Amino acid sequence: MAKQSIPHPILVTPRLRLRQFHTDDVDAMHECFTDPEAMRFWNQPVYTKRIETERTVRNLIDCTPSYYRFWAVADAETDRCLGLVNYHDGHIRSRRVSIGYMIDPARHRQGIATEAVSAMLDFCFGELGLHRLQAFIHPDNSASIALAEKLGFRREGLLRDNLRVGDVWRDDLVYGLLASDRQSPA
Ligand SMILES: CC(C)(COP(=O)(O)OP(=O)(O)OC[C@H]1O[C@@H](n2cnc3c(N)ncnc32)[C@H](O)[C@@H]1OP(=O)(O)O)[C@@H](O)C(=O)NCCC(=O)NCCS
Repeated sequence: MAKQSIPHPILVTPRLRLRQFHTDDVDAMHECFTDPEAMRFWNQPVYTKRIETERTVRNLIDCTPSYYRFWAVADAETDRCLGLVNYHDGHIRSRRVSIGYMIDPARHRQGIATEAVSAMLDFCFGELGLHRLQAFIHPDNSASIALAEKLGFRREGLLRDNLRVGDVWRDDLVYGLLASDRQSPA
């Protein structure tokens, strides 16, 4: 039986349509996953083979809504995939999840992530009724830090050697956003 029994929620913003991934998104995501800059702080090394992206996109289509879900960040007019947002590493019953995001480097610094992640935050706090969202961010990932702070996340601490990527252990900053932070920003 398929894991997902309810339709994937579609989130609409002025420029974007966040929807379920499909196999036609492989080309667009391959540009992200093979880009050293986009992958510099990702939890996997840069991809070198198309089959790696094909396998990943199959996993992005799949979801277990109570634990993780991916959205393709698509251009509202053309439906071209510009990247991904996701929540993961949680159980909805615990009302806490972690989030992630990646945008095509050709479209960086155009407010795409701000628009897409904001829509996902609204969904997580609104539809899912979550209490806490968290992001684990490498201390040198200034783009992700700027995005998280712009969205109201607060820096809560540093986890040493939190993630192993290839042969390297990496530190992560912990950023957290509570539902109440959104109602009354710091
Ligand atoms: C992090 C990421 C998703 C941001 O995407 P984006 O669409 O360029 O972000 P936005 O345009 O919405 O910018 C959000 C804020 O971050 C700032 N910002 C973006 N890139 C930045 C950079 N390289 N350095 C400093 N600030 C940056 C923007 O100026 C903006 O703040 P402002 O509106 O106050 O100016 C993108 O850089 C990315 O995909 N990185 C690779 C994947 C990754 O590392 N994901 C996070 C893992 S934790």
